[in-house]
Amino acid sequence: MSEALHVPYSSYFDKSPAHTPTKVLQTLDLLSVSGSFVPKSGDASPLSEISSGVSTPSKSFKRVQTVPKDSYRRKSLISDVCFDHTISDEFSHIQLSINERRMSTESGISSFSRPRSIKLSKPSDENNSKFIVTKIINDEDDEIEIVDLDEDEDEGNFSFNPKTKLKENLYPNCDVNVWLRSCEHEIIEPIRGEVSGQIPKWINGSLLRNGPGSIKVGSMTFNHLFDSSALLHRFDIFHGNVTYQCRFLKSDAYKKNLAANRVVVTEFGTASCPDPCQSIFQRVASLFKPADANSDNAMISIYPFNDEYFCFAESPIIHKIDSVTLETLEKLNLHEKYGIVNHTSHPHVMSDGTVYNVGLTVTKSGPAYCVLCFPNGENMFDNARVVAELPTRWKLHPSYMHTFGITEHFFIIVEQPLTVSVPAVVKSQLMNEPMISCLKWFPDKSTNIYLIDRENGQLRHTFQAEAFFFLHIINQYEKDDHVILDISCYKDPEMLNCMYIDSMKNMQNNPDYAKLFRGRPLRFVLPLKYPTKLKSLTNFFAWNYETNEESFKVIGENLVNLKDSEATAFSLPDGSIFCKPELLCNLGCETPRIHYEQHLGVEYQYFYAISSDVDASNPGTLIKVDVVNKTKLTWCETNVYPSEPIFVPSPDPQTEDDGVILASMVWGNGDENHVGLLVLDAKNMQELGRCEFKNLPGPVPKCLHGWFAERKF
Ligand SMILES: [Fe+2]
Repeated sequence: MSEALHVPYSSYFDKSPAHTPTKVLQTLDLLSVSGSFVPKSGDASPLSEISSGVSTPSKSFKRVQTVPKDSYRRKSLISDVCFDHTISDEFSHIQLSINERRMSTESGISSFSRPRSIKLSKPSDENNSKFIVTKIINDEDDEIEIVDLDEDEDEGNFSFNPKTKLKENLYPNCDVNVWLRSCEHEIIEPIRGEVSGQIPKWINGSLLRNGPGSIKVGSMTFNHLFDSSALLHRFDIFHGNVTYQCRFLKSDAYKKNLAANRVVVTEFGTASCPDPCQSIFQRVASLFKPADANSDNAMISIYPFNDEYFCFAESPIIHKIDSVTLETLEKLNLHEKYGIVNHTSHPHVMSDGTVYNVGLTVTKSGPAYCVLCFPNGENMFDNARVVAELPTRWKLHPSYMHTFGITEHFFIIVEQPLTVSVPAVVKSQLMNEPMISCLKWFPDKSTNIYLIDRENGQLRHTFQAEAFFFLHIINQYEKDDHVILDISCYKDPEMLNCMYIDSMKNMQNNPDYAKLFRGRPLRFVLPLKYPTKLKSLTNFFAWNYETNEESFKVIGENLVNLKDSEATAFSLPDGSIFCKPELLCNLGCETPRIHYEQHLGVEYQYFYAISSDVDASNPGTLIKVDVVNKTKLTWCETNVYPSEPIFVPSPDPQTEDDGVILASMVWGNGDENHVGLLVLDAKNMQELGRCEFKNLPGPVPKCLHGWFAERKF
C-alpha cells in the first residue's frame, strides 16, 4: 500500500467550530474492571469483597464492556464501577483491577494485557470530601483520572454519585433520550390523531417505520441501541386524515426474552445470560448454522417484495409483516436458501419491482460478497439467484456492509476497512460474545470501491480511497464516462460506539461525543477511462504529518473530467486509481433518501436527511441538499425530533422535488407519550400539515428506517 493513501479527509470533518482535535481511536478493546475493598488493617489477602451498593465484606464487583482504547467510555466505565458502590469506614481504600484485551491491528489476534491495579484511597484529611487516585500499580503511563469522587457522609458510609457531580449538559439542545425510551403498550387498533394544516388529499397509503422499541427486558437493559427490540409503527394516511399504530416485531428473540423476562439471545452489543443447557458442542454446532446462532431481531428497515413487506437487519433472517395490522406473519431464513451469512439492511427495489441485495457467502476459495437478484413476481424468494460474486479483500476479514450501490450498468460494492474478524466470530460463538466484539477497524488501509458489471457479474473497475466508515450510500449514477457515488462518510467507526446505551446516557458529559459522531456527505467521482499502465512515476501525494494539514500535491493528470466537480482521481504508481471526494454539504446527514422511484441509480439533484450533528443548534433538523448547486434547505422545530424523511412524489411529478416529505416525529424533554406525522412540501421544506397523537398509553421511541406503502385501490 502506498504511503499516498494516508491522506486524511480531516478538512471535511473539522468544519464545525465545536470540533476540537483529539486522538484518533484505533482499536476496540474489551475492558473489564473488577475491584475489592481493602480493610484498614491493610491485610488485603484475601481481599474483602463488596457488592453493588452494599457494604459487606463478602462480595466483589466486576463489569466487562467493549470499549475503544483511550476513549471517554473507558474512563466512565471505571468511574461507574467506583460510583456504584458504597464504602464503609472500616476500609481504607478500593483496589481496582483493569484488564484489557487488545485487538492487534497487525494480526487481528486478540491478547490480554497484564492486569492493572489502581488504588483509590480516602484522604487522610477527614474534612476533605474527595477520594483521589493515590497509586497506580504496574502501569507506567495510565491516564485514568478518578479524582472527583464525592463523599456523601451517611453514618460512616461513603457513596459516590458521579451523575450529580459530573453532569455538565454539554449539548443542551439535544435530548438523546428520544432513542432510549421503551414502548410499554402496543397500539394495535388504529387511533385517530389531531390534524393541523393541510395534509394533501392525494397522499393515500401507510408510512411504515421500524426501529428500537425497548432497550430493556425485565430488569435487564441492552448494551447497544441496535440490540433494542424491533418496534413497528404505521401512520395510515387517507384523504387528509391519519391513524397511528405500533406493535413489536414478534421475532424469536423477542418471544424468548419475553418468556424468560431477561436477555437470553445474544444481540449486536449484548451477550445473553448464560444458558446452562447449551453445551460447548452445541456452540460448535451453531458455527455451521449462523442464522440459528444470531438474533432474528430485525429492527433496522422495511422493504417491499412485490406486495409483501419484510423487516430487515443484517442477519439473514427476515420477517414478513402485515402492512395493515403490523402483525408478524412469517420468518424467512435466507442462509438456508442461499447460504449467505449476512446481508445489507438496505436492498434496492428497482422500478419494475425487482429487488437486489448484497450478502456475504462462503465459497470454495473463501468468503465472497454476492449480489442476489429477486425477480419481481410471484415467489420472489424461490426464484432468486446469485448474479455476481466478488472475493473479499482479506479472507479472514470481510468488510462490514450496511448498503451497496446500483447504476445502469454496475453494482457498486464499497469495501470499507471496518471488517468482521472471522476468528473473532468463531470465538464469539463459542464464548457467547456479542457481534460488535468481532468488528475490527484497519485505519491504515484503503477503502476499496468495486464496480461490477450487471450484465455478466464480472469485476470491471477497482478504485481506492482513504479509509472511511459509512453506513449509508446516498445515491450513485453514471455520467460522461464517470460514476458518481455519494456517501454519508465518517472518519472512523466511532459512531458505532457512540450508540452504546451508556454512551448515549452519558453523552451530555462527554466533550468528545459530537466529534466522534461527526460525519459529512461526500461525493466520489470514479473515472471509467484511465491509463492501465503508467509510463513512469508521475503522480504522488503528500501529507504533512507535523502540521496535520492537507498538502495534497500532485504531479500528473486529474482523471476526473466532469464539469463543475471538485472530486479528483489519480493513477498511483502501482496502477491503481486513488479517489479523493468533494464535500456535498457541511452538515451531518444521516438516513438519506432521494426521489427513489425515478432517480435511483440515475442522475439526481436532491437528497433528504436528518441531522447527525448532536451539537447543532437543533439536532432534530431535517435537511434537503441540492447536490448540483451545493445548497441546502432545512426544517426544524424546538424539541421535535423527526425521523428519516421519505420523499413521496406527487401523482404526476413535474420536477424531481415535486412531492412531499413524510417523517414521523417524537418530542424531547420528557414529552414521551407523544408521536406525530409531519408533511413538508419537498420543494421548499415548508410544513404543509401534521397529525399529532398525544397522551398515548406509553412512551414512543424514535425510529430508524421505513417505507411508504401506497394504497392500491
Ligand atoms: Fe440504515
